[in-house]
Amino acid sequence: SNTANDLKENADVPTFPMPRTLPLRPPPDYARLRKENPISKAKIWDGSVVWLVTRHHDVSKVLTDPHFSKVRTHPGFPETGPGGKAAAHTGKPTFVDMDPPEHTRHRGMVEQDFTKKKAEEMRPKIQQIVDKILDEMLTKAQPVDLLASFALPVPTLVIYHMLGVPYEDHEFLDTCNAIRTNGSATSAESARASKDLMDYLARLVDKKTQNPTNDIISRLAIEQVQTGKLTHDELVAMSFLLLVAGNATTANMIALGTLTLLQHPDQLAELRRDPSLIKNAVEEILRYVTGSQFATRRLALEDVEIGGQIIKKGEGVWALNASANEDEDVFSNATRFDIRRQPNPHLAFGDGIHVCIAQDLARVEIQIAIETLIRRLPNLQLAVPADELQYVTIPKRDFGVAALPVKW
Ligand code: HEM
Repeated sequence: SNTANDLKENADVPTFPMPRTLPLRPPPDYARLRKENPISKAKIWDGSVVWLVTRHHDVSKVLTDPHFSKVRTHPGFPETGPGGKAAAHTGKPTFVDMDPPEHTRHRGMVEQDFTKKKAEEMRPKIQQIVDKILDEMLTKAQPVDLLASFALPVPTLVIYHMLGVPYEDHEFLDTCNAIRTNGSATSAESARASKDLMDYLARLVDKKTQNPTNDIISRLAIEQVQTGKLTHDELVAMSFLLLVAGNATTANMIALGTLTLLQHPDQLAELRRDPSLIKNAVEEILRYVTGSQFATRRLALEDVEIGGQIIKKGEGVWALNASANEDEDVFSNATRFDIRRQPNPHLAFGDGIHVCIAQDLARVEIQIAIETLIRRLPNLQLAVPADELQYVTIPKRDFGVAALPVKW
């Protein structure tokens, strides 16, 4: 829908995403934009132009303003790559891609499973899962890839437990998940693995409808599907969302959080001396690393004013939570990693009605995983020089390390 005038006007806008200079730090352009041009245009992979919102206050405003939509079938909705664009137009959306009132209704069906109280009650189960995974890792020859052998199995086994995936099916699902998240799989391979997962979940929903057990899928099958409030296919899609939404992100935060601590040995030593710092340290890891930094995209449903700039109806917006998390107006010494930082109002889980539904669960998982890892492995270290590590980013994934070879 770009007119000739728009095109001329947009001829010299920068390309997004911008390059990083340090692998673990956001692009330095963010700091410049926050200062000089906090709401500015950029060109994305498909040639379309979007607004980049960089200040903490404005990012939060976009994410809490009902004039912005998450419905990805709107023309001009900013996508991360061709795969995402295709996916946005096939199949029915889940609540992550809905606006109210559908979003409210669908999200409301599972909110009770992800309260802070539920997450706290999960602690013993999560500790048991983490210890078991670590026991297995310790039997392997060193070096070991901490991402594949520790960080990824933690959120995976937790969500299998919550959804009620039977133990004997774990291996099949792990294989599908591995293909989906593997940076080197072709798009045909990952599409096939996603389809296998969907087919599996459809059979699981049938099984749980006939023989309900104590888990999320059984409860939704009885309360929502049998009463006609949710279709069978919608439950399959919702189960898929819950199964895959948090695995790569949580795994990344465990792996990148461990890497960040290894690169700040004085703070790692302090955390080992005083494990009660773990909750605060995890908040700082979430802020400093911001693993999910390309999810918070929106489209303006009306002309809206944000930070003095008019964003026109139909224009796409990228609310950069990684930039917000380094905003000096909110965080003093924002570029410093400080496990004692307080307060820490980071936007790593987003904000507003789409704020991560599982934020408290994810917090508990990362806290237990890292606390247990550094307690049980006092000699934990990288097995390769840090500058040899490979990273993955969009269109494959938000941001993450491809592998984290460690020894102990
Ligand atoms: C939404 C980050 C873990 C399920 C989000 C959003 C962010 C985020 C930034 C908001 C997207 C937006 O505003 O457009 C993270 C991070 C995690 C994590 C950093 C780990 C450290 C998880 C886990 C699950 C999960 C473990 C599931 C078990 C979801 C769902 C939504 C969501 C379903 C959509 C919520 C909605 O649209 O109402 N997450 N997430 N996340 N997350 Fe997470």
